Amino acid sequence: MNVYDGQRIVSMLCGRGLIQTENVATADLIILNTCAVREKASNKVFSELGRIRDRKKPDALFGIVGCVAREEGANAFRRIPELNFVLGPQSYHKLPEILDNPDARLLNVDLSGLEKFDALPPSTESPAVAYIPIQEGCDHCCTYCIVPYTRGRELSRDFDDVMRDVLDAADNGAIEICFLGQNVNGYKNSLANLIRETAKIDSIKRIRFTSSYPTEMSDDLIALFGTEPKLLPFLNMPIQSGSPDVLTRMNRPYNLDLYIDIVNKLRSVRPDIQISSDFIVGFPGETDSDFEMTCDIAQKIGYINSYSFKYSPRPHTAAALMKDQIPESVKKQRLKILDDILTENNRQFNESCIGKTMSCLVEGPDKTGRHLLARTPWMQQVIVNASTKTAPLQSIRITNANKCSLRGEIVKTEL
Ligand code: 5AD
Ligand code: SF4
Repeated sequence: MNVYDGQRIVSMLCGRGLIQTENVATADLIILNTCAVREKASNKVFSELGRIRDRKKPDALFGIVGCVAREEGANAFRRIPELNFVLGPQSYHKLPEILDNPDARLLNVDLSGLEKFDALPPSTESPAVAYIPIQEGCDHCCTYCIVPYTRGRELSRDFDDVMRDVLDAADNGAIEICFLGQNVNGYKNSLANLIRETAKIDSIKRIRFTSSYPTEMSDDLIALFGTEPKLLPFLNMPIQSGSPDVLTRMNRPYNLDLYIDIVNKLRSVRPDIQISSDFIVGFPGETDSDFEMTCDIAQKIGYINSYSFKYSPRPHTAAALMKDQIPESVKKQRLKILDDILTENNRQFNESCIGKTMSCLVEGPDKTGRHLLARTPWMQQVIVNASTKTAPLQSIRITNANKCSLRGEIVKTEL
């Protein structure tokens, strides 16, 4: 979601004649787009702002947008008095106001819902993958999560508005659509229908969505994995923990049997589907045996491409006030154990791909310029021996694999 927000800010400002630069020392406007999900990222924002203040041109405008802006509000001006603007994740469309009135301080951390989608000019980007948000906010209120505070209640965008964005993206050359939302499968106007409608567009070849809440996987959506070939065989469906007690304290009241049942249903309609998860280790009160249950389920489901985090207490969340906070050293040990399991899952799945030919989306050259980077239908990275981007969709034969990525060679151009 943050990446999407960043892209929209860039295209909005480029539309007003500004030119994008990475150079803080020469920029006229510096924007730090921020994430508040974990404390470390949040803390880094202020040290980074201090560095920017010392390196920027004296008259350059600078400020923060995103969830840390919402978390800190006017306090951000107290911490860094030279800041020119502080705009929350639902008010960054107001950024041009600072250009019109550079001497005023701009503060807006309101939860203005879906307003930004109407206010932002249409995207002029032409990437192969278009990220399209279909909802804002989240109603789940997991006890560790700051998102319901920073992004507010869950609101679903209009079906027709989303489809307009999909068609614009297709016109701009997108071949893959990724629908975004904190709870994307809870989209009120039917994610399954959105996918079906999007799949009718000839030039769109791949469709995916992230991130899904387990109990909101409707039978219609599950069945679609078996009938819609453009829907990629890959699903991020965070379980967070394998312990029923921890899940209850996280306010994620789903039954693990139900979760496993959904995975089995998905596998029966789409045998090659792979599941990815997010995990939190060291949640308050997590015992060794709770943690073992998380490791067991990570192995049992065989998750790939997953994310694991040490629990981080966040302001405005219930879990931050829970007793039995876990010492940092224990969190660190547990994270290492879980990461080793997740890495082994990746290695095994990657190695099982050797010798197979698969349709991959070409992203562009790597840093050396000697290889192309591409994505398999399961979102693994493939490194290909070729330096020029020939076509966006290639049939690639996998020749080698390790725990992080695959190596491959182009068999034929698909598009
Ligand atoms: N501490 C650690 N990880 C968190 N996440 C959300 N809040 C926290 C927190 N307080 C993780 C969850 C979520 C992902 C986006 O970030 O795993 O799925
Ligand atoms: Fe946060 Fe996701 Fe839970 Fe919503 S469902 S509160 S975004 S972790």
